[in-house]
Amino acid sequence: MVVNKPPMGWNSWNTYAEKIDEALILESARALKESGLADAGYNYVVIDDCWALHERGKDGKLVPDPEKFPRGMKALAGEIHALGLKFGMYSCSGLMTCARYPSSLDREWTDAQTFAEWGVDFLKYDYCYKPLNRRGEELYRAMQLALANSGREILLSACSWGADKTHEWIRSTGSGMWRSTGDIFDNWNSIKSLILQQLPILPYGGRGCFNDMDMLVVGMNGKGNVGLGGCTEEEYRTHFAAWCMLQSPLMIGCDVRNMSEFTRSLLTNPMLLSIDQDPLCAQTFRLDALTVDFDPNKQDCCILARMLEGGDIALGFFNLSDSVKNLHCTLNDMGLGVSSGMTLEMCDCFTGEKRSPICGTVSALGLQPHACKVYRCKVVKA
Ligand code: GLA
Repeated sequence: MVVNKPPMGWNSWNTYAEKIDEALILESARALKESGLADAGYNYVVIDDCWALHERGKDGKLVPDPEKFPRGMKALAGEIHALGLKFGMYSCSGLMTCARYPSSLDREWTDAQTFAEWGVDFLKYDYCYKPLNRRGEELYRAMQLALANSGREILLSACSWGADKTHEWIRSTGSGMWRSTGDIFDNWNSIKSLILQQLPILPYGGRGCFNDMDMLVVGMNGKGNVGLGGCTEEEYRTHFAAWCMLQSPLMIGCDVRNMSEFTRSLLTNPMLLSIDQDPLCAQTFRLDALTVDFDPNKQDCCILARMLEGGDIALGFFNLSDSVKNLHCTLNDMGLGVSSGMTLEMCDCFTGEKRSPICGTVSALGLQPHACKVYRCKVVKA
């Protein structure tokens, strides 16, 4: 299936890992609806690893654990669809899933058929225990072909963590998104590291197959499976804004049944979401080499920009370092030279405040450690 914008939804792994069941998944789906997250675009409800029995059935099919999912997956899919949401599941391309449950290696056609029968719309497909004599691209192509011939539209979400130079071959597999980094954890070092890992591989993402920076940790506050430490509100803001500037899929990982107002409003920030979901899907580019504080040996700040549909520009200043920074870029570098007679009207995505560049330069002065400033900019007469 053609994936035109970064998929959005919720995934069970970050908070619950193996502690999943039908009630939890349905409560989370209902919470997506009731909180307004579904209306904001979060429409995939994805069950991650640990949903199956350890043995396949006599017919060779995967079997949902009857203690966790007593009514089976088809019934659950029906309820999720009735809420107007889409249903995602998980399997693995290697010998077992990462949590050592049955995988789909050499069972791709059986499993794709099963997923289609259950009403699955999205398949996260992992990379653990890959046999050394098999190539990743072959394994993802096998599942994509099986899904594409299953009679149901199922988005393949590849999860090989950027291993084996995934960026070089993933678009050849027909996957709709691909995990371009290792697993996220709910702490600042993890977020900083994932942002820095993205920067060299920006040209590989975009419409059709989006770079997936992993599920969000916004709102986890140190709780749950990957909740190692937690982040400050400032850090969650920077995390979410970076994922949006970099056009990552947005899969929520927190307990959506118990969200704070801060979490709900950050996840539904309309200006940031419009940047993430921008239909032009232009590549995000960097402007940071221009800044006076820039030290190429110490990558701890970045200025990111992206052309948006209709002629606007998204612009983000990110201070990933532990000290206060002053960051600068010029309009010229965004394609607005003096000869254009044009400038920007910049709208702060968090506060709605408007500002303008001064003498062709845009600065973020006194940017606090781990903070960001992100603007949606209109091109206007100077
Ligand atoms: C891998 C993936 C995670 C999650 C776990 C499940 O680590 O990268 O996102 O799916 O497996 O076991």
